[in-house]
Amino acid sequence: MTKHLTKITDLSKDELLSIIENAYVLQYQFIKNGENTSHFLNKTITMIFEKPSLRTRVAFEVAATQLGGNAIYLTSSDVLANSIDSKIREPVPDIAKNLENFTDIILARVFSHETIKTLAKNSNIPVINGLCDLHHPTQTLADLYTIWNLHQGFPKDLKIAYVGDGCNTANSLFLGCDLLGINFSIATPNGYEMPKYIVKEAKNGNFKIGSDPIKAVKDADIVYTDTWISMGLESEYDKRVKIFKPYQVNEELLTHAKPNAKIMHCLPAHRGEEITAEVIDGPNSLILSQSKSRLMIAKALLKFLIN
Ligand code: CP
Ligand code: NVA
Repeated sequence: MTKHLTKITDLSKDELLSIIENAYVLQYQFIKNGENTSHFLNKTITMIFEKPSLRTRVAFEVAATQLGGNAIYLTSSDVLANSIDSKIREPVPDIAKNLENFTDIILARVFSHETIKTLAKNSNIPVINGLCDLHHPTQTLADLYTIWNLHQGFPKDLKIAYVGDGCNTANSLFLGCDLLGINFSIATPNGYEMPKYIVKEAKNGNFKIGSDPIKAVKDADIVYTDTWISMGLESEYDKRVKIFKPYQVNEELLTHAKPNAKIMHCLPAHRGEEITAEVIDGPNSLILSQSKSRLMIAKALLKFLIN
């Protein structure tokens, strides 16, 4: 059966850990002697983007190239939508079946998780979810790799707190932590929680869900946040910035976390909204490590899926 990454729980705990460990091996080889093994030799990844991207696009494009293959970038106006009237150009199953004739992996960043599911259902080559309304699994892999790298493993009593919107990034981080048994707490405003059916997927129960940011970050080793206005929700800007204001990650909130708690954000960030500049650009911020991890995880994921 073809292995896909439509969401982080498509991976078993062992698969997730092996991708992280492989990312480390690839990073070590690369730093030590610039070595890139040709794990993706003469292979092609086709990347379809319905929304903008800096990190996901560039990380996967560079990963494919460095491993001996190449990447093709398609925007939604190339394939999914008809640029004149915005109607779909051709059915998603046809896109999957055609791409499988030319290419070895599909990555898609789309508005609806249904599109990812339809691509995966109709494709005999792996499909990677490059972000949708519900999930952002490649980000979670990079985040977990970043944390793993701090300790060369996951400390037993590690606690991650997420404050802000119960969006794609939160859902995937929550499920990733659950898979690994990492303690996770989240505070979101009422009405902006993670969907109940996502929470139901959790198997370990090492989590706390609430609406109080101070309670969520209490004794946390890591405090994570993401934008309050995910791509596609721009029309809700005025309403959301008012509702989310008490959820800003700032110095005051961090007095309730462990001293020198690490700060994470998947980027792009909005300084002065979900996080203050002094926090995100401060000494405990991991944002650039997270960004670097995107490349190493992209390589390890390509290697894993192509095998
Ligand atoms: N974090 C992340 O996915 O960044 P991009 O939107 O730039 O790909
Ligand atoms: N939640 C954000 C993540 C961006 C990488 C969004 O969907 O826009």
